[in-house]
Amino acid sequence: APVTPDASALLRWYDTHRRVLPWRSLPGQRPDPYAVWLSEIMLQQTTVRAVISYYERFLSHYPTVQDLAAAPLEDVLHLWAGLGYYARARNLHACARRVTEMGGFPQTLAELLTLPGIGAYTARAIAAIAFGVPVVPVDGNVERVTARLYSIEDPLPASRPLLAKHAARLNTDQEAQDRPSDFAQALFDLGATICTPRNPSCLTCPWQKKCMGLKNGVAANLPLKTPK
Ligand code: ADE
Repeated sequence: APVTPDASALLRWYDTHRRVLPWRSLPGQRPDPYAVWLSEIMLQQTTVRAVISYYERFLSHYPTVQDLAAAPLEDVLHLWAGLGYYARARNLHACARRVTEMGGFPQTLAELLTLPGIGAYTARAIAAIAFGVPVVPVDGNVERVTARLYSIEDPLPASRPLLAKHAARLNTDQEAQDRPSDFAQALFDLGATICTPRNPSCLTCPWQKKCMGLKNGVAANLPLKTPK
């Protein structure tokens, strides 16, 4: 069985290095599911840097999911202009209407997956961050961390299911099970600031002792990609 990474080392690192982002609650507080959902939809194909101002403008126009549901689609598309991938904005609006009809966001993975625009990644992100469900959302950052940690040299995209399987077990430790929201966001921050696509900062990584990619001298090159 693969080594389990040290969840408590990652969480200790997160406690001192966490990025302050507008959709994050204060430490120890439950965030608004609407804010988590909105930010995760925006972050699907757009960088944190580009998302921040859109996110803030959106929330000031539509402070609640009910406000968004009541808005004309045309206004929503207008506010989205510049973020790209407009199917996201259409799904966002459809999802806001469904959630409003339901009386609020559902809290289980299975129900979240039935909503427009919410796939495997987003459902897990919302479940973990907003509702404390112990699941691991797997985006490109988490795939990269996982490929390096387990020194997985099979190339993407074929390796995606294998990476997802390993990533799903990253939260096996009790500390991770106890703090699903922080654990998920710690993985995002690790991928964004330490385990970066190029020139990763392995010497300051909270997982350096467990990282098989570092041990094998291949971390910075992973994940491999099949040429197009
Ligand atoms: N990327 C995707 N979701 C994120 C989040 N909640 N915080 C930071 N980066 C992210």
